[in-house]
Amino acid sequence: MSVRKRVAILISGRGSNMRALIDAARAPDYPGEIVLVISSSPDAEGISVAKAAGVATAVVDQVRFRRENRDREAYDAELHHILTAANVEFVCLAGFMRILSPGFVRKWEGRIVNIHPSLLPAFKGLKPQAQALAAGVATSGCSVHYVVAELDAGPVVAQAEVPVLAGDTEESLTARILAAEHKLYPLALKKALS
Ligand code: GRF
Repeated sequence: MSVRKRVAILISGRGSNMRALIDAARAPDYPGEIVLVISSSPDAEGISVAKAAGVATAVVDQVRFRRENRDREAYDAELHHILTAANVEFVCLAGFMRILSPGFVRKWEGRIVNIHPSLLPAFKGLKPQAQALAAGVATSGCSVHYVVAELDAGPVVAQAEVPVLAGDTEESLTARILAAEHKLYPLALKKALS
């Protein structure tokens, strides 16, 4: 009998971290199996990447929810319903551009992680790479952390450092951090599941 945990990944866009997780979880000794990808947008590039990798996908369209005047709790209830219907045991946020409601976070606390492109607790919130450049730090990086109700504030699972180089732009630093994210996330998920 398999002891691999059933993992879902929540995305909103490109899905390059999602792809790194799907690739890593192909190893037979990886402690998780990616069983589902849920996107907040029907246009997310990551959906076709997941499909091509043979992973089931679902869309919970945030634009449709907004148009139908259904609130954040209704959106998160739909997410929870899809996750539980698929017997998901652990959730990875990977570029999921929504803040989850406290009720949803409580249901998944200890079983949901996010990746953030800074060395938390530094540079929470939006545009952390630009924040790092503005602060003039010599080192930045990325963090995988448990999701709690407060944004980017949960316990850190693992971090990777990258140098900030003279002449870096937001784009060059973002690319250097993203390359580190793709290595870190599979290792951090393995750690969280083991
Ligand atoms: C990554 O930089 C991640 O840290 C942040 O959003 C970006 C998502 O990129 N939360 P991708 O969709 O995984 O390519």
